[in-house]
Amino acid sequence: MALNKMEDFKFDGTTRLPVAYVEGILQPTPTCDSWDQIWNFQAKSDDLLIATYPKAGTTWTQEIVDLIQNEGDVDKSQRAPIHVRIPFIEWIIPSIGSGLERANEMPSPRTLKTHLPIHLLPPSFIEKNCKIIYVARNPKDNMVSYYHFQRMNKSLPAPGTWEEYFENFLAGKVCWGSWYDHVKGWWKAKDQHRILYLFYEDLKKNTKHEIQKVAEFIGKNLDDEILDKIVHHTSFDVMKQNPMSNYSSVPAKIMNHSVSPFMRKGIVGDWKNHFTVAQNERFNEDYKKKMADTNLTFHFQLS
Ligand code: A3P
Repeated sequence: MALNKMEDFKFDGTTRLPVAYVEGILQPTPTCDSWDQIWNFQAKSDDLLIATYPKAGTTWTQEIVDLIQNEGDVDKSQRAPIHVRIPFIEWIIPSIGSGLERANEMPSPRTLKTHLPIHLLPPSFIEKNCKIIYVARNPKDNMVSYYHFQRMNKSLPAPGTWEEYFENFLAGKVCWGSWYDHVKGWWKAKDQHRILYLFYEDLKKNTKHEIQKVAEFIGKNLDDEILDKIVHHTSFDVMKQNPMSNYSSVPAKIMNHSVSPFMRKGIVGDWKNHFTVAQNERFNEDYKKKMADTNLTFHFQLS
């Protein structure tokens, strides 16, 4: 569907958005219908891209980056909700918004967000040698977080039961595709392109150190006091209360925080409250096979 036709396609959250495949990857249909425009997105050499699999800590990273760019000025980071400050390029929800349009209208230097796997990344990002920050999260917590997100977010399919969701996640039958292919694809790409590859678990464990790494990568030299301020303002508890980062600005009929809040738990290891012993065994066996061809490793709990 062309962007100018989108107003004809009503989405009021009374039903879920349908999904379809783009190059083998499930996407909400408005994204599929605008795929040519997304694929041909014109990145600029000073764009900074934050790329993640859904629920890997995208919003957290966005808030960190925005505060680094604004040298810890909290008032500036309050200028708009996070999805307006940092457009989500393939996110097109009729009557709610188009990240693609926002990105195209935005003055440079732009910071943008995507959940696309590397093989579906609009080629201009690589052609223009853009800096990219990729964040990965261990798949057990990632799965749990995604399950609850699909419960509360009407722009994605209903997740079904936890047991059904568990199988669909392992099979990659969720929007943005297989977690395994996503993290491995970006891991491989980091050796050829300007990609800073980070982990949610490291951000939890060594927050200040990881924020410093991000600052260095984007070319900002911040003093200790500012770094401490950024650590504080991007903590889970502060972001949960911040209407500019907690997605409370999205209409409740689309994101219903009373079903499950966007800022849900923000911890490492919540999977232990969801996985049965049998699911854990099945997961570990499958994980071993799917991750046999990579040296990428994950922490499933904080030591
Ligand atoms: P949980 O559902 O496990 O709580 P994304 O932004 O990619 O959609 O990821 C959302 C996940 O990141 C949610 O995980 C959310 O709570 C967590 N998150 C958001 N901000 C965070 C922060 N400041 N610290 C830790 N986790 C955070």
